[in-house]
Amino acid sequence: MKSAAPLLRYDYSGALLEKGGLTGAEVHETAGILAGHRDEIFDVDLPAFAAGQSLPGKDPLDTAFVDMPQRLLAEYETQRDGSELGQILATAKRLSDSVDRVAVLGIGGSYMGARALMEACCHPYHNELDRGARGGKPRMYFEGNNVDNDAIQAVLDMLPCPMKSSDPIDRWAVVVISKSGGTLETAAAFRVFADRLSHAVGGDATQIAQLIVPVTGETGKLRNLANALGCVDTFRVPDGVGGRFSVLSPVGLLPAALLGLDIVKLLQGAVAMTEHFRHAPYSDNAVLNYTAVSHLMERKHNATIRVLQVWSKTLESLGLWYDQLLAESLGKNGETGATPLTVVNTRDLHSRAQQHQEGRRDKMYTNLLVENWRRDPVRIPSSDLNQDNLNQLAGKSFADLMTAAATGTNQAYNGDGRPTADLFIPAVNEHTLGQFLQMMMLSTVIEGRLLQVNPYGQPGVEAYKKNMQAALGMK
Ligand code: PA5
Repeated sequence: MKSAAPLLRYDYSGALLEKGGLTGAEVHETAGILAGHRDEIFDVDLPAFAAGQSLPGKDPLDTAFVDMPQRLLAEYETQRDGSELGQILATAKRLSDSVDRVAVLGIGGSYMGARALMEACCHPYHNELDRGARGGKPRMYFEGNNVDNDAIQAVLDMLPCPMKSSDPIDRWAVVVISKSGGTLETAAAFRVFADRLSHAVGGDATQIAQLIVPVTGETGKLRNLANALGCVDTFRVPDGVGGRFSVLSPVGLLPAALLGLDIVKLLQGAVAMTEHFRHAPYSDNAVLNYTAVSHLMERKHNATIRVLQVWSKTLESLGLWYDQLLAESLGKNGETGATPLTVVNTRDLHSRAQQHQEGRRDKMYTNLLVENWRRDPVRIPSSDLNQDNLNQLAGKSFADLMTAAATGTNQAYNGDGRPTADLFIPAVNEHTLGQFLQMMMLSTVIEGRLLQVNPYGQPGVEAYKKNMQAALGMK
């Protein structure tokens, strides 16, 4: 199941600036140390993880995400329907055939990847299309990611109660995702949605067991609930795969499959990126170069704000997924971790570019640029009414305008000693998204090792949880 699809390309020439930037030599000097950290993942961390050992300073060691795509694909190749991927595809088909709406409950790493995949790969108005135009795939709503009263009511408004017939149009299901099984936001939402579902099917336990699909750890409260409900399909968040590193496990794969995305291609893209990371020479290694440039800009030029400028509206949630990955993995010990910021251009040129062009010099800009658009080009027509003076652009496409804007923005930033780098996505599809997701997860781990912080775990988040539970009088 090899794939020869083109890889993402990283070009950091816009960060090699006399004023405010790096030198090529500085980037090359880090080759040895970065390659050392990379090799350690494969030669030390993965074997230690497989052997169930813990390593000093590396607890938790949630390295299993690295070769998970490869493992899932290999198992699928030999066991097909009996494999985990086969079961995900079967469940997705079962639900797609029987319901028209799915509420996906989860928070943080347990939903951000799925939402990113939906926004990047589906029609931007997927939920508004009729069932035929959606290819028979369900509408999808994300909840359990907040405790916003009106937002949860709004999703409940979308779910017919009672379900009037066996026609999929009248029916809905719940996918509840929580690795720990104890996260309050998701647990509270699940209780509400499970209750509503029970009312919707008149308390029919068989239907409830079919229409609730949990994705959770081997043990925990959600696992216990799943067992008590007798859910026909329950998926496991594998050991050694932390929340924000779990997008390529059932956590992201089940919602993606429900939306009709090609999850085999998604995993193949991730495998291609792991291979590239492992074997490409430093000069050509997108993961290592991206890590080096971002890290050196922070160390040498105080670029503590890492701006990911996505040049497509469909990539906003992908940027937010990365924000979470970077922030929760590296923001530790009171001093480490750049602050991530996703910017959608050209939209945000009209809200942030003033500051980015002339404000404090504490930012590194990485552009995520789409090389080939999915849809036919929209072109500017010529018009008898030329009061807007746009006839000079007649025939130009929106892709031309986007390229001009990105080039012009880089020129303007670089001209003022503000560093940029470009990460080119050949086209937005499952394969390239798999590459991007894996690239950023690998880079984050390598940077954690450079910073000497454990990229896994998020001990700091416990404080608010404890206080919130105390405020609620919970035991
Ligand atoms: O990255 C992480 O580990 C977190 O963002 C978790 O995904 C988030 O807190 C949700 O946790 P859980 O899946 O246990 O409900």
